[in-house]
Amino acid sequence: LLRPMTDPFGRTISYLRVSVTDRCDLRCFYCMAEDMTFLPKADLLTLEELDRLCSAFIAKGVNKLRLTGGEPLVRRNVMSLVRSLSRHLVSGALGELTLTTNGSQLARFADELADCGVRRINVSLDTLDAEKFRAITRWGDLGKVLEGIEAARAAGLAVKINAVALKGINEDEIPSLMEWAHGKGMGLTLIEVMPMGDIGAGRIDQYVPLSLVRARLAKRFTMTDLAENTGGPARYVSVHETGGKLGFITPMTHNFCEACNRVRITCTGTLHTCLGHEDASDLRKPLRASPDNDLLAAAIDRAIGLKPKGHDFIIDRRHNRPSVSRHMSVTGG
Ligand code: GTP
Ligand code: 5AD
Ligand code: SF4
Repeated sequence: LLRPMTDPFGRTISYLRVSVTDRCDLRCFYCMAEDMTFLPKADLLTLEELDRLCSAFIAKGVNKLRLTGGEPLVRRNVMSLVRSLSRHLVSGALGELTLTTNGSQLARFADELADCGVRRINVSLDTLDAEKFRAITRWGDLGKVLEGIEAARAAGLAVKINAVALKGINEDEIPSLMEWAHGKGMGLTLIEVMPMGDIGAGRIDQYVPLSLVRARLAKRFTMTDLAENTGGPARYVSVHETGGKLGFITPMTHNFCEACNRVRITCTGTLHTCLGHEDASDLRKPLRASPDNDLLAAAIDRAIGLKPKGHDFIIDRRHNRPSVSRHMSVTGG
């Protein structure tokens, strides 16, 4: 019978985040360098292999799957993977199949996502100002993202907006971003920028603690803490004036790792058991070594047995070094 995967700290691992590509059509400065070297296509797992890998985790008790990237919707044929994974929704093994996207390709895919059983998605969007959007993403077209969001809503998908709070860039805009999102019945979750990948001096200066953002919001809005905790990093409040939900993800100022329920795999089959650590286990080799999943299952167990207690992001101003050298785009958060 199914025994849920449990790590050395007694945490049950029920949530898998799958980066289906390290590529993205944008270059958010806090996520990627401008001239990223992407993985050679030959290193990528095929969509069939990704399916096998995800299914192996589902067989081990994972009941929530999120596709990320890079940008998941730029992976060629990604919908065939979504379609195929949706069989686990039908069988009931999977409770939720979802994705985190930058929204730029959503207009094309929204209907099909809904048709595959996706019920809600998270869209990363830091600003509603087209100029600022271009500055953050280096060339992105805000109009396309807004169009994508509308297409998703029209397709019946619930949308949550994720915004990284950036000092001097979008902090002044957070109240209006929230009013806009809540006005459309979408949640908004704010994220503290994390020191991952090569960070220039700029990124460190753009860090703003969400405690400060919250204190500022509290002058204008009445916020009530919600008890719900999805095992995720976000802590939620309901906002009286807008009737909407606001989330705070505070890896820099407040640790939420005690309740961590997740691990991540990359498009090359590397398992990262913690976003804030360098730890990595190769699953591609055992995946390819044999068509049955015994070796793979053993490799997964070994890796889960090494999941660290939590992340420890520090801003090393003296050496200007990131806490974790891999870019966020490798795991998609
Ligand atoms: P929900 O299912 O809606 O709760 O979403 P989620 O928070 O699981 O997923 P989402 O992709 O929206 O995550 C938002 C962001 O939170 C990610 O992009 C990361 O920046 C951050 N995040 C998610 N999980 C972790 C984690 O385990 N540790 C840290 N430090 N940050 C995380
Ligand atoms: N710190 C915090 N969040 C980040 N994201 C990307 N890079 C970082 C970072 N360095 C966010 C994106 C998106 C999600 C996948 O991760 O904005 O919401
Ligand atoms: Fe692309 Fe998302 Fe990274 Fe921006 S944050 S570069 S949209 S993967």
